[in-house]
Amino acid sequence: MKTKLITSGETADEEIQEAAQWLRHGALVAFPTETVYGLGANGLDSEAVAAIYAAKGRPADNPVILHLAEPAEVKKYVSEIGPKAKKLLDVFCPGPITLILRSKNIVPRIVTAGLDTVGIRIPSHPIARELIRAAGVPVAAPSANLSGRPSPTNAQAVLEDLNGKVAAVLDGGESEVGLESTIVDCTGNVPVVLRPGAVTLEMLHHVIGAVRLDAAIGNEEMVPRAPGMKYRHYAPLAPMTLYEGEAHKMELAIQEAVRQALASGKCVGAIVSEETALLLPRGTVVRTYGRRGDTAAIAAQLYTALRSFDAIAVDEIFAEGMTEQKGLSLAVMNRMYKASGYRTVQLH
Ligand code: TXA
Ligand code: MG
Repeated sequence: MKTKLITSGETADEEIQEAAQWLRHGALVAFPTETVYGLGANGLDSEAVAAIYAAKGRPADNPVILHLAEPAEVKKYVSEIGPKAKKLLDVFCPGPITLILRSKNIVPRIVTAGLDTVGIRIPSHPIARELIRAAGVPVAAPSANLSGRPSPTNAQAVLEDLNGKVAAVLDGGESEVGLESTIVDCTGNVPVVLRPGAVTLEMLHHVIGAVRLDAAIGNEEMVPRAPGMKYRHYAPLAPMTLYEGEAHKMELAIQEAVRQALASGKCVGAIVSEETALLLPRGTVVRTYGRRGDTAAIAAQLYTALRSFDAIAVDEIFAEGMTEQKGLSLAVMNRMYKASGYRTVQLH
């Protein structure tokens, strides 16, 4: 199959309408959202959704999210919207959040991977909304990467993984957030965050009061409640060591580790703040993610940095973590833990 790249200038109405028709009739179309790019299929067509699993090499026990254009459509696919879920819909949708709700029978089993719940998301990106609206069907979509690779945050990254496997890629430039949506399980009394994201715990708490974080987040020993969170994910090919703790100590420790690795003849990658980057020796493959503490910039650039290390086949990677874990930093650190396989150095 030849993949059609529909570039920014062309993502005008006509092109989106055409892609929407392909989607509606069973083809796979990758599209931009404000979090990461999605790999879309008609969410009411089991065969089309099966093609998503095949294209990604995705395990069959990992459900996909249904994307809708409007909050008003949610009730078609879920049997109950409790008062807290209703509030989350009112305040955060459209936006970078996914709600887990009890599904109706109209949702194919392959979408929910046999669970009695379904993940619902209403993206805010204009191209995503226009595509879903024009398709006239809910759009099942995981992130548009091969299973195990970092989620794509631009059209080029989608093509790296899926060229020839999808009918079209809509290019909407760089994803604004850069990390996948916050997943909130709304099926119990107290909502539970299964995956942290740009809608933070603090923001959720402000709107609905009590909210818990799935105990498996940040704990490599436990089985998470979102099936996809258990897989080795977001991982670069080279081993990555994550430093966390006090800023100055991280700087010095990374500088020293990089020196030693270079001295032993390795090709060394570092993903660090601009401040730390200034201290690293020449010859280091440095990816800076902005000023220390600029969490939004770090979130937006993390996956591109990880992908670039794979492209140049570095031997080892050293990463500077966040100095604290609140707000968006919780989501950034969650992805960094996974990328490092929990190989961390604590410097408090
Ligand atoms: O930002 C996002 O959420 C992106 C964009 C494209 O919308 N999508 C995304 O999808 O990240 P994916 O498939 O890569 O991650 C979805 C996660 C997986 O960990 C999956 O196990 C979990 O959501 N999930 C989906 N349905 C679920 C359900 N019914 N119960 C628990 N977890 C669920
Ligand atoms: Mg994914």
